[in-house]
Amino acid sequence: MESKELLLSVKELAVSYRTSEEIVRAVNGVSFSVNRKETLGLVGETGAGKTTIAKAIMSILPDPPASVDGGEILFEENDLLHMPEKEIRKIRGKKISMIFQDPMTALNPVFTVGDQIAEGIRIHENVSRKESEERAKAMLEMVGIPSSRYGEYPHQFSGGMKQRVVIAIALSCNPELLIADEPTTALDVTIQAQVLEMIGNLKEQMGTAMILITHDLGIVAEVCDNVAVVYAGEIVEMGSKEDLFDRPAHPYTNGLFAALPSLAGDQKRLKPIKGLTPNPANLPEGCKFWPRCPYATEECRQENPGLREIGPGHFSRCTRKSQEGC
Ligand SMILES: Nc1ncnc2c1ncn2[C@@H]1O[C@H](COP(=O)(O)OP(=O)(O)OP(=O)(O)O)[C@@H](O)[C@H]1O
Ligand SMILES: [Mg+2]
Repeated sequence: MESKELLLSVKELAVSYRTSEEIVRAVNGVSFSVNRKETLGLVGETGAGKTTIAKAIMSILPDPPASVDGGEILFEENDLLHMPEKEIRKIRGKKISMIFQDPMTALNPVFTVGDQIAEGIRIHENVSRKESEERAKAMLEMVGIPSSRYGEYPHQFSGGMKQRVVIAIALSCNPELLIADEPTTALDVTIQAQVLEMIGNLKEQMGTAMILITHDLGIVAEVCDNVAVVYAGEIVEMGSKEDLFDRPAHPYTNGLFAALPSLAGDQKRLKPIKGLTPNPANLPEGCKFWPRCPYATEECRQENPGLREIGPGHFSRCTRKSQEGC
C-alpha cells in the first residue's frame, strides 16, 4: 500500500464571530487531517462554517470580529495558530495557498495579469524580476493561456480565463496545500468542468494536497479522496469518498447525498433538506441536527454525540445503531 504522510492536522478548532449584538459560533470543535497529495472535500450547506475553517488555516480571519476560541492547526508540525505573523507570511501564499470563493474580485484591475502572477513569485522566492516574469509566463501557459497575453489587464479576459489566472497565482509557488473554496461556482457550467479538470491535472503534476470546498457532489465524486460533511460548525461525518457515497451513516449526509444513489449517479447538487440550518448565534442543545432529524430521540435533544469511528477511517456523530429507513 502507498504510504501516507500527514501534512495538515486540524484539532478541535473553534471560531466565533463576536459583535456587540451576538456571538456567532461558526466553527465548533472541528478536527480532520489531510495527507500529502490527497484531496479532502468539505461539503455542507451555506453558513456551515466551511470558509471560516479555510480562513483559519490561512490565518486570515478578520479579527475582530473573528476570534479563535481553541484548537490547533498543525502544518508540517508547526502550530499555525501560535506562529508569529512574520513566520506565517512565509507559509501563506507559498506553502499553503487559497483560491477564494469569489475569484472574480481577486484580481487587481490596474495591474497586468502577468505582473500579478510574477509578484507572488518575487515575494516568496527571492528571485530577480526577469526570472519571476519568466516563471509567470510559464504558469500562464500551464493554465492554458498563451504567454503573449502576459501584459494584458483582467478586463481583457473572460471569466474562465480570469479564474485560470487566479489558479496560476495560487499554484505559482508550488504550494504543498491548495485550499479551493468553491473554485468553479462563479463560472459557466461548460467552463467549470474544464477548470476543474485543469486544477486536478496540475495538482497531480505538482503533488499538491487540496482541500476542496464545494456544493457539487459530482465534483466530490470526481476529485476527492476523502470527504468531511460540515453542519452547524461541526463535522458530522467523515470518511473516504466511497464511505460517504455508498455507506452514509449520518441522517444529514443521507439527506444531502440522497439525490445520488451511488458514485455512478447522475444528479449532482446537494439535495436540499427540509428545515433550516440552526442559527449559529443560538445553536440547539444536544445534537445540532435534531430539529431536522426524522430519527431524533430525547437523548439526541440533550446530548451532542462525538464523532465515533464506525468503520476503518469512517466517522459519524450519529448514535443510531441501524441505518434502516435512512
Ligand atoms: N465577518 C463575519 N462576521 C460575522 N459573522 C460571520 C462573518 N463571516 C462569517 N460569519 C458567519 O459565520 C457562519 C459561517 O460562515 P462561513 O462563511 O464560514 O460559511 P460557509 O460554510 O462558507 O457558507 P457558504 O457555503 O455560504 O460559503 C455564518 O453564520 C456566517 O454568517
Ligand atoms: Mg463559504
